[in-house]
Amino acid sequence: MERLQKIIAQSGITSRRKAEELITQGKVRVNGKIVKELGIKVNGNDIIEVEGATINRDISKVYYVLNKPRGVITSVSDDKGRKTVLDFIDTDKRIYPIGRLDYDTTGLVILTNDGDFANLLMHPSYHIPKTYIAKIEGLLNKEDIIRLKNGITIDNRQVNIIDFKIKDKNKEKQTSLIEITINEGRNHIVKKIFEKIKHPVIRLSRIKIAFLDIGNLKSGEYRELSIKEVKKFYSLK
Ligand code: URA
Repeated sequence: MERLQKIIAQSGITSRRKAEELITQGKVRVNGKIVKELGIKVNGNDIIEVEGATINRDISKVYYVLNKPRGVITSVSDDKGRKTVLDFIDTDKRIYPIGRLDYDTTGLVILTNDGDFANLLMHPSYHIPKTYIAKIEGLLNKEDIIRLKNGITIDNRQVNIIDFKIKDKNKEKQTSLIEITINEGRNHIVKKIFEKIKHPVIRLSRIKIAFLDIGNLKSGEYRELSIKEVKKFYSLK
């Protein structure tokens, strides 16, 4: 017997948190009856419907890492017809990206149909570090460096900057390349950090999530995560 929200997340259609919302909204049926409580447990023979569709209880899990190109949205569909990260991956599974990169941000995106795994990577309490390379306007002075070291406040909440390094600076063009690691996932957070210290981001790329780096994946290329990598992510919990 397993909790209903866990079974729904495992079927790959959504995360566990979203599954809980769907249950409390009365959009889930077990053996034809609407169930609104979160505690209930189901067994292998129970038929579960989410928004009218019966979920697949026997689905193997898949995990991919993609080097997202610029001009692609991190979503499963787009009403404006733009390319999405799913257009790059050849699979018949209902996968979705974990977290979000901006349309113009490149780099590492993980996609899966495993709701528990997505939850692990997204959940703020697990503090999974993510590393970015930002090309920014200007050169950082001592004061900027102190501000980054002390932490920047965005929307009244401090951003935990785990590490940053100046990788390169171009005095002629007045631009710098900064590697920065943070462990939270607020939207546009890296752009906001540099905006705040008056060094707007010109280009942004994510190169690492926890231990997983982009390696030699070229723009638009992807590969499956190994079982060892998936287990390693679970061990971070
Ligand atoms: N921070 C940003 O500003 N943009 C991203 O795409 C990711 C992190």
